[in-house]
Amino acid sequence: MASAAEPQRPTPLKSGIEFASADIRALQADDFANPGMLWVVRGEKLWQEPAGRDGKSCASCHGDAKAGMRGTAMRYPLLDPGTARLINLEGRIMQCRERRQQAEPLRYESDELLALTAYVAHQSRGMPVNVSIDWQNRGHFEAGRAMFYRRLGQTNLSCAQCHQDHWGKQLGPETISQGHGNAYPIYRLEWQTVGSLHRRFRSCLSGVRAEMLPYGAPEYLDLELYLAWRASGLLLETPGVRR
Ligand code: HEC
Ligand code: HEC
Repeated sequence: MASAAEPQRPTPLKSGIEFASADIRALQADDFANPGMLWVVRGEKLWQEPAGRDGKSCASCHGDAKAGMRGTAMRYPLLDPGTARLINLEGRIMQCRERRQQAEPLRYESDELLALTAYVAHQSRGMPVNVSIDWQNRGHFEAGRAMFYRRLGQTNLSCAQCHQDHWGKQLGPETISQGHGNAYPIYRLEWQTVGSLHRRFRSCLSGVRAEMLPYGAPEYLDLELYLAWRASGLLLETPGVRR
């Protein structure tokens, strides 16, 4: 038995899509039917759109995202060299928007930020999640791991009890997956829209009647880093589709 203190990866590693029903799998696999592709297309438009004081677009600095952003998303979250803080892809895009483009800020979970995030992450579709843990980000990794194993809420359940110990089991209408973030942002039928990984965290936390933290909370970033380590090697699927 591994102790709770020991970080574990599920074996064999399986993407969440493998636990989805046949119709959801078919939706995700077909770019013409996948509703998440609408956000990718919106993101592509925003990428080209001039904004801010100098009327710069993302493209004016980064060029063609297909080349410039390929291989980016799967390295996140990472330590931002500027602030020495952990930052995820959404955070990085918000930062570029404000500091480099000098345009009005994008809100977490806004359609614009989801679209840009989906568009940037989509450029790495098919590439393996690849974060490395070193002495600089280890504190965040440890905090994320602790949260993953902490019993939460009125039901007193941890993330690990569902996604590490009981994946593949049925929970009401759902099959519990291993809880990876490799398809995010996803289109979720229940939401009728695209949502971020932090929105999914909030759904799970509300499911166990635990306190929900704000989008982009440092605790969620730590958890995101732990999940990325745990998913290392899984291929990016953005935009995913879930029930
Ligand atoms: C009571 C069981 C339960 C607990 C506890 C729980 N989840 Fe979930 N989680 C689910 C179910 C059910 C789903 C939807 C089906 C699926 O994708 O696993 C889900 C989905 C997810 C997904 C999306 C996977 C995908 O491929 O779309 C992630 C990520 C996730 N959970 C992370 C967490 C984290 C992090 C915690 C702890 C803060 C947590 N969950 C706590 C049951 C749980
Ligand atoms: C004025 C030039 C400029 C504009 C406009 C700009 N960026 Fe950036 N961006 C940069 C520079 C320079 C970096 C790398 C240095 C850094 O870390 O900030 C960067 C880094 C990034 C990264 C991280 C790349 C990596 O390899 O980790 C992403 C993602 C990104 N930008 C997205 C965007 C998006 C989306 C927009 C439009 C909303 C945008 N940027 C607008 C200059 C710009």
